[in-house]
Amino acid sequence: MQFVMRNIHIVYYFVLFSTFACDFPQYFQNDYVVKYERHLVHFYNEKYIRYNLTYSKVSKTSRRLLFTVDVLQEIGTNAKFVLEALKFTSNEYRRFGFRHEEHPCSFTFTDSFGFSYKNSDTNLTTCPTKKGTYYLRDPNLDQSRFPPFVPRGRFMLNGCIYVDDALLTNISVYIKIVPTNPLEVVIN
Ligand SMILES: *[C@@H]1O[C@H](CO)[C@@H](O)[C@H](O)[C@H]1NC(C)=O
Ligand SMILES: *[C@@H]1O[C@H](CO)[C@@H](O)[C@H](O)[C@H]1NC(C)=O
Ligand SMILES: *[C@@H]1O[C@H](CO)[C@@H](O)[C@H](O)[C@H]1NC(C)=O
Repeated sequence: MQFVMRNIHIVYYFVLFSTFACDFPQYFQNDYVVKYERHLVHFYNEKYIRYNLTYSKVSKTSRRLLFTVDVLQEIGTNAKFVLEALKFTSNEYRRFGFRHEEHPCSFTFTDSFGFSYKNSDTNLTTCPTKKGTYYLRDPNLDQSRFPPFVPRGRFMLNGCIYVDDALLTNISVYIKIVPTNPLEVVIN
């Protein structure tokens, strides 16, 4: 569907969960929960975009995602997204062979991984995305639709988006995958 919509979707991934699969079947899982730790926006290319991304606590149990972006130049279909996951082992984040690449506008937003943009509060709805200001708030995420049986532990998700091989943005999201069953033995 839409490119920036896609970025945002990606941002969701970063912020709230990780993609441990390369296609998007209908999943069901209740074996773990994803806990957000923090995120860092390392870079965005001010020729194309400027954005703010916050994921702030509103109560003990809930957070609020707010993403606002100024698109300064139309972003088309010539972009690609690269996601890499690193796992925390022996006191540092290490590569373990997870890398995923995707092209924008090729993704349907119909409930993949528990995400439904139709139920989210956003006005980013076109791909390619024209110059303008857009926002996205409070995405509706259903963790039960995430892929089952992903590795437990702490992860750093590094995401980069490129436009014609120029870096558009570079962010890292730190998450923790925690088993639902407190008696599950986690070996890292
Ligand atoms: C980001 O936040 C700053 C400070 O609040 C604001 O001046 C700026 O317009 C925001 N940028 C976007 C793209 O929302
Ligand atoms: C999206 O919403 C923002 C904030 O309300 C508004 O400033 C902007 O013009 C809207 N963008 C489009 C493309 O409708
Ligand atoms: C993204 O930012 C991190 C932290 O600054 C850096 O180590 C990494 O090389 C950057 N990635 C790219 C593709 O520029």
